Amino acid sequence: MKGVTVLGSTGSIGVSTLDVLARHPENYQVLALTANRDVAGLLAQCERFTPKVAVMADEPSALRLTEALAGKGIPTEVLCGLRGLETVAAMREVDYVMAAIVGAAGLLPALAAVRAGKRVLLANKEALVMAGRLFMQEAETHGAEILPIDSEHNAIFQCLPPDRGAGLEDRGVKRILLTASGGPFRTTPLPALKTVTPAQACAHPNWEMGRKISVDSATMMNKGLEVIEAHWLFRASADKITVVLHPQSVIHSLVEYIDGSVLAQLGNPDMRTPIAHALAWPERIESGVGSLDLFQVARLDFEAPDLLRFPCLRLAFEAVHAGGSAPAILNAANEVAVAAFLDERLPFTAIPEVVEETLQTLPVVEPESLQGLLAIDAEARGVAEQAALSRV
Ligand SMILES: NC(=O)c1ccc[n+]([C@@H]2O[C@H](COP(=O)([O-])OP(=O)(O)OC[C@H]3O[C@@H](n4cnc5c(N)ncnc54)[C@H](OP(=O)(O)O)[C@@H]3O)[C@@H](O)[C@H]2O)c1
Repeated sequence: MKGVTVLGSTGSIGVSTLDVLARHPENYQVLALTANRDVAGLLAQCERFTPKVAVMADEPSALRLTEALAGKGIPTEVLCGLRGLETVAAMREVDYVMAAIVGAAGLLPALAAVRAGKRVLLANKEALVMAGRLFMQEAETHGAEILPIDSEHNAIFQCLPPDRGAGLEDRGVKRILLTASGGPFRTTPLPALKTVTPAQACAHPNWEMGRKISVDSATMMNKGLEVIEAHWLFRASADKITVVLHPQSVIHSLVEYIDGSVLAQLGNPDMRTPIAHALAWPERIESGVGSLDLFQVARLDFEAPDLLRFPCLRLAFEAVHAGGSAPAILNAANEVAVAAFLDERLPFTAIPEVVEETLQTLPVVEPESLQGLLAIDAEARGVAEQAALSRV
């Protein structure tokens, strides 16, 4: 029986994780669940799973949850804020931590799980984008296992031979092929992109996801963040990573070897597959995902991404080449720009402009510490807010 904490349990990945866990009550015990402000959602999950601890992001929400739990006689303890998240990420009786908080807010709780030596099921790609070097070093120091949840990285993990400390080249790998659907605007005429709405940007053709990652998919910043994530997870230089547009989202990614072999992982686009894989690894468990019907799929298409249509992808490649603080600046500016777009304060096409202006304004440095990184993140947010304001 493995004890599990689900950070961000009320989100898209959190709900899918609980769906898989509920199929295997003999193998997993849900020990802690967390949300930002969704008190009703977390209350319903506490009723269903009776975790030991639940965490809300702020005190008023925590108080409301405490009262609602007491009213229903549910004995779950309620904590709040970052300290609460770090506590449930590192609890002694917890074996596995699903890191599924969205954005930079997920970094410190995920890092707490890493420092406690847990198996970390990493959905929060922003943690690696912001602090990849530190995150991977801490995982090594504390013996934490990092299992990727992003479907692409989970696919690559499945197609690679065991790590055992060797680099990609020593394992005969020539390159990684990261697939991308191209999102809802892959074929939209470029002038029409100026006026797209948040609802249109969040209507992904193949995946149901949270709003932030849906917008990232529409700009292809999501793929850019994934390039940086793959760079750290698999110790792959950017020139060993090729992005391939594959509109059907059936091949989740591929690995090419020096002998010409190309291994791919395929499946229906449903995040329960990588979640179940990471929970059970190296075993396999049932996930609730139906069989892939190749006759129904019938064809698989591939295209090179158009960097004029998707400037965010170019910016992410430039950031990984620049190294140091550039990915953290890119991530912070993107979060600010996406939030402004979702609030209808910024046009869709201004998202890459805000990110580019922020990257051009701030110098690239090598962050010495976590505090240094958080200061860079805060500074980049300030610059990006100004850049967004100037485009209203
Ligand atoms: N969705 C996917 O298919 C998918 C695929 C691959 C990777 N990912 C990655 O997984 C992560 C989660 O994505 P998602 O789509 O599941 O996001 P989501 O649906 O927006 O859910 C985010 C979760 O984080 C919580 N949260 C948000 N801000 C927080 C804060 N400041 N402090 C504490 N908790 C906070 C939310 O709580 P409330 O519900 O209370 O707001 C919710 O539980 C992202 O990093 C994303 O890039 C997602």
